[in-house]
Amino acid sequence: MHKASSSMLPATLTGSLREYRVVEGSDLLKRIECFHDWQSQRFQDGFWPYSRSTDAGPKSACAVADDMGRKTDGVNFGSQDYLSLSNHPAIREAAHAAIERYGVHSAGSPAFIGNTTHSIALEKKISEFLGMERTVLFPTGFAAGFGAIKGLVRSSDHIVMDALAHACLQDGAAAATKNVYLFRHLESDSARRWLEHIRGKDTTNGILVVTEGLFSMDSDTPRIAELVELCREFNATLMVDVAHDLGALGPDGRGHIGMQNMLGQVDIVMGSFSKTFASNGGFVATRSRAVQQYLRYFSTPGTFSNALSPIQAAVALRAFEIVDSDEGKALRASLMRNILSLREKLVAAGMEVYGDPSAIVCVKMGTEALARLVSRQISHMGLVANLVEFPAVPKGQARFRLQVMANHTEEQIAAAVDIIQKAYAAGEAELAEIVEPPLRAIA
Ligand SMILES: Cc1ncc(COP(=O)(O)O)c(C=O)c1O
Repeated sequence: MHKASSSMLPATLTGSLREYRVVEGSDLLKRIECFHDWQSQRFQDGFWPYSRSTDAGPKSACAVADDMGRKTDGVNFGSQDYLSLSNHPAIREAAHAAIERYGVHSAGSPAFIGNTTHSIALEKKISEFLGMERTVLFPTGFAAGFGAIKGLVRSSDHIVMDALAHACLQDGAAAATKNVYLFRHLESDSARRWLEHIRGKDTTNGILVVTEGLFSMDSDTPRIAELVELCREFNATLMVDVAHDLGALGPDGRGHIGMQNMLGQVDIVMGSFSKTFASNGGFVATRSRAVQQYLRYFSTPGTFSNALSPIQAAVALRAFEIVDSDEGKALRASLMRNILSLREKLVAAGMEVYGDPSAIVCVKMGTEALARLVSRQISHMGLVANLVEFPAVPKGQARFRLQVMANHTEEQIAAAVDIIQKAYAAGEAELAEIVEPPLRAIA
């Protein structure tokens, strides 16, 4: 591993979005131009692998185009379609049937008449699936996470949150109260210390404890029973974001809450349809009709936003039915086979992977410089995979996030590993040349 001094490296290999998060100046628009200058240079040098598009959908192999229309193609480990439902014939049929019945638009907030027969059935299906009483739908998972917190927590309340919680949870917390306490990732004891501290001085206001069922960059999971116990002990409410594990993990697709036998025990279960359920959309499932009704009218991203389209509701409902069937079980088995095969092959190739087996397989890179060089190689060698840097992960912990699908083939998995291994070696060699130019270059 190279320890490159940043002064030897071009600006496109150094720096991070972190440096542009807080910018100074009285002109809100002018002061952000420095970011565009830096980004454009990265883009020109082939170090900006973001904001790409497909023209035939997120299949297991696909072509992608960047902002300038430059195309590459290859095996696709960059899309989140864990059970490969986005092109499933029954899902396509559900979408077509919804158009025939409703047209394409819900034309209203769920607080007015934006709901459809399908969205009502979807809320019921999610409640039953999770052993919860009621569910509220949101236009996206982000809106669900942000909206649940902002809807329930007032400025005098407290939030105790895993330090690596998703941006929708962090933003919701910041919008709700200044009393936000981050506990060490996955450490219930650290959460306990905050709860003791808060209850030591405030017994009258509420506390929301927030975590995820499966962390989206580290593929690890908390001990949910411990957090449930803590919440009971300190009169707090537990919210778990199951965006990445629901439907995709566990023998019956109930994710970590199911695998840890905690169905019906968590106060607020929040999730997204965008990873496994082939649609935009999110939900908050609760143990009472009172909470559902309160969130319906006091959670701004739900109340003051247009409801899911009838197509999205019909697709997510059909996806839940598949997830809850024998076919769903078979798809999860195939997904897990692929996950284990990918992890095993990566390790055999000398790469380091994060966390536990899940559809998220993150491959360690470390410095942004090496990661960007590897990323440039990867896209030319025929692999579509997302490079993750700050703000998704801390600076200096760059990684590739590979997302596995049920219908990836063994050949595609082998090809991905082969490319990563070759690209990593090529990236290391390029970095070594930049840091320590060979003598022939100096002569
Ligand atoms: C843990 C987690 N929660 C919530 C979301 C937001 O979901 P959506 O894409 O449906 O807005 C995501 C997606 O990035 C996520 O990873």
